Amino acid sequence: MTARLLDGAALGREIRAEVADRVRELAGSGRVPGLAVVLVGEDPASQVYVRSKGKACGEAGMHSETIRLPATASEGELLAVIDRLNADPAIHGMLVQLPLPRQINSEKVLRRIDPAKDVDGFHPVNVGKLVLGDPTAFRPATPYGVQQMLVRSGIETKGAHAVIVGRSTIVGRPMANLLMQDGPGGNATVTVCHSRSRDLPGITRTADILIVAIGKPEFVTGDMVQPGAVVVDVGINRVDDAASPRGYRLAGDVAFAEVAERASAITPVPGGVGPMTIAMLLRNTLQAMEQADAR
Ligand code: GUN
Repeated sequence: MTARLLDGAALGREIRAEVADRVRELAGSGRVPGLAVVLVGEDPASQVYVRSKGKACGEAGMHSETIRLPATASEGELLAVIDRLNADPAIHGMLVQLPLPRQINSEKVLRRIDPAKDVDGFHPVNVGKLVLGDPTAFRPATPYGVQQMLVRSGIETKGAHAVIVGRSTIVGRPMANLLMQDGPGGNATVTVCHSRSRDLPGITRTADILIVAIGKPEFVTGDMVQPGAVVVDVGINRVDDAASPRGYRLAGDVAFAEVAERASAITPVPGGVGPMTIAMLLRNTLQAMEQADAR
């Protein structure tokens, strides 16, 4: 392998330590940021994420609550939980773990969250603020984490051609907005590709920075990457593997071994973008409290 490994675990720890320092300072004046995480049902991946989020809050000295509803919960029950959290002064940020069971309309749920507490940044008010470059927007944690990873690894985005594979509202679209903004970690020329893009490999080969969030294991192969490119793999997929004791292994959206032969830098899976996401969620919760206090 020739590429430098971008170590999200180490960078995530660095950011969480910065958040913890600020939380300690604020605790002196009796202020403790609080995060509520709502989980509906028993999706195994979601359970892992939700546990990690609660644990990370505790380690940063923050208050956290996890609210679990059964997979059969109605939309009304979930909306009632959100209303209660919207009104709770100990809760500065909340998120509803996605995906939600079929009987619940996710869009309606996300719109019920008070935009001032929407630390996922999925409410239309925050989406709009992000597009406008308003610094009070909550930046969705995954693309925000990718941007921080680039900045803190000394990777210049200014003037670079950043190609994003995937146009999801959680990653691809906010990623494009962050990278095109004027400022550190921005000023890139951005191309967003998706399932209908013509000649995808031809486009990805023009990327100085290639960010992949398509949800297909090992989709990006070595021939799709320009030698020297920086490759960020947002994917985390469970792939059947009889040789593993769990019966599966985790694979990114990038064929790691062959792409690492061409890239100048690459994120591993796991241990790349994942730990950054949790760190930025804590950062957003702190931002939510500081903005609430300033009002
Ligand atoms: N499911 C996958 N990613 C996310 C995320 O960033 N936030 C929430 N709420 N659910 C998710």
